[in-house]
Amino acid sequence: MPKRIERVLLDRETIARRVEELAHEIAEDVTRHVGDIHVHSDNSKSITLVPLLTGSVIFLADLIRHLPLMMRIRMLAVSSYPGKSTESQGVTIESALPDDLSDQHVIIIDDILDSGRTLAAVRQTLVARGAASVKACVLLRKMLPTALSVPVDYVGFDIEDAFVVGYGLDYDGYYRNLPDVVTLTQEAMV
Ligand code: IMP
Ligand code: MG
Repeated sequence: MPKRIERVLLDRETIARRVEELAHEIAEDVTRHVGDIHVHSDNSKSITLVPLLTGSVIFLADLIRHLPLMMRIRMLAVSSYPGKSTESQGVTIESALPDDLSDQHVIIIDDILDSGRTLAAVRQTLVARGAASVKACVLLRKMLPTALSVPVDYVGFDIEDAFVVGYGLDYDGYYRNLPDVVTLTQEAMV
């Protein structure tokens, strides 16, 4: 059996603690800017989360269970790393976009900020659809000048510039189910 996991960058307990903290940050911020939209409060406002498929699904599932806000979820399929590539190949939005986002406070949810092209493209598209506000939340941000220069409102962890998988992130579609964020060995990346 080839050894596939090289190094654990973030273990599941560390991720779980930070995701819960992030959710509190978001809930406080939303309450400040949109008003009290907790599920037990009595009003009609809500936010719209736009998670980017497929990498953000595990993060999304954990995050929203710590976010007791009125929300809708509109998934967007976006691809930038087809197949075995480990460098962004340009951004394609592959699913239908919500027609009308006027008055909606939107939060884009993504797994990782690398070149920042995905986030910039999606943000621009959602702003063009008339969203009242567009914020962005990423679990990971690579410490690269490109990634650090992209405006993002909520960041889980700043990590070194390495190709990582697990907790939703993939290499050639695999490894999304690993509970920790890890790097792969050379043998696994063929
Ligand atoms: P960006 O457009 O270059 O910022 O890339 C963002 C997207 O590329 C993420 O949503 C991921 O799907 C993918 N990506 C970037 N870096 C990695 C990585 O280290 N591992 C797995 N996927 C990555
Ligand atoms: Mg992705």
